[in-house]
Amino acid sequence: MLTRAAVATTTAAISAVVFLQPGAPAQAAPSARAAEEITVISHRGASGHAPENTLAAVDKARELGFDWVENDVQRTRDGELVVLHDTDLKRTTDVEQVFPDRSPWKVADFTAAEIARLDAGSWYGQEYAGARVPTLKQYLERVDENRQKLLLEIKAPELYPGIENDVLRVLGEQNWLDASHLARRLVVQSFSAPSLRTLHAERPDVVTGFLGAPPVSELGAYGQFADQINPSAATLTAGYVDAVHAVRGAHGKPLTMSTWTVNDAQTARRVAGYGVDGIITNVPDVVRDAISSS
Ligand code: G3P
Ligand code: CA
Repeated sequence: MLTRAAVATTTAAISAVVFLQPGAPAQAAPSARAAEEITVISHRGASGHAPENTLAAVDKARELGFDWVENDVQRTRDGELVVLHDTDLKRTTDVEQVFPDRSPWKVADFTAAEIARLDAGSWYGQEYAGARVPTLKQYLERVDENRQKLLLEIKAPELYPGIENDVLRVLGEQNWLDASHLARRLVVQSFSAPSLRTLHAERPDVVTGFLGAPPVSELGAYGQFADQINPSAATLTAGYVDAVHAVRGAHGKPLTMSTWTVNDAQTARRVAGYGVDGIITNVPDVVRDAISSS
């Protein structure tokens, strides 16, 4: 028969196990964080200062002193992963001039060699003429060379069946799935819960983020496969931040939150006051200055 002390110890141990489970409640986190505790993430690189999703935008983030960069990954017709936001090439390259007969210029309709011919910098400014759409491999190499960290978004995975395994393969080939990258330098996010579930099932050791704002009642279910809930800042409330922090994520720690896309000082201060963990921004310098001076 168990003594009272033994029962208490056993109960505490069981509680600890229960509360470390993904999706289980977490202890309340403090609300507002100090500026240095908030991770400022350069959206599509420092895309307010250089053409988005190019190596130049990654380098600009480093020049400004920022470790974390966000990008968007898609797949070409011949299976190469490339870094580009829109699912067509019109807005951020000269594809309409180079391939005038290939409307609607979808990424998935072009080979990697064709995309490598495109100018992804001139639309932004002549000083960036000749910048290329990077492959994921090229992008990872540059982020590594710069000693930076990556919030990698699988963009529109419904258009690219199996892209989760392609992403994992390239990450592995580039040594981004070693213990050091997994622990400190890589998060994979998506608007697609099925895509994140697939990735998590394949590699449960990868930190993942869901883009969006699931109802509070469903956060426990998201915590089964995600470590972060990353919503738009537009409708964010302090209560929702607290609700997210109160649930454990896929690795047993409280869910964290990076909100997007915050490009002005006032919004940066507002969301910092709510206690977010990260702010995703085209202008990381503006956000850093705003939250440091508040
Ligand atoms: O990282 C958040 C943000 O990138 C999500 O929206 O459209 O810019 O990919 P979008
Ligand atoms: Ca993105």
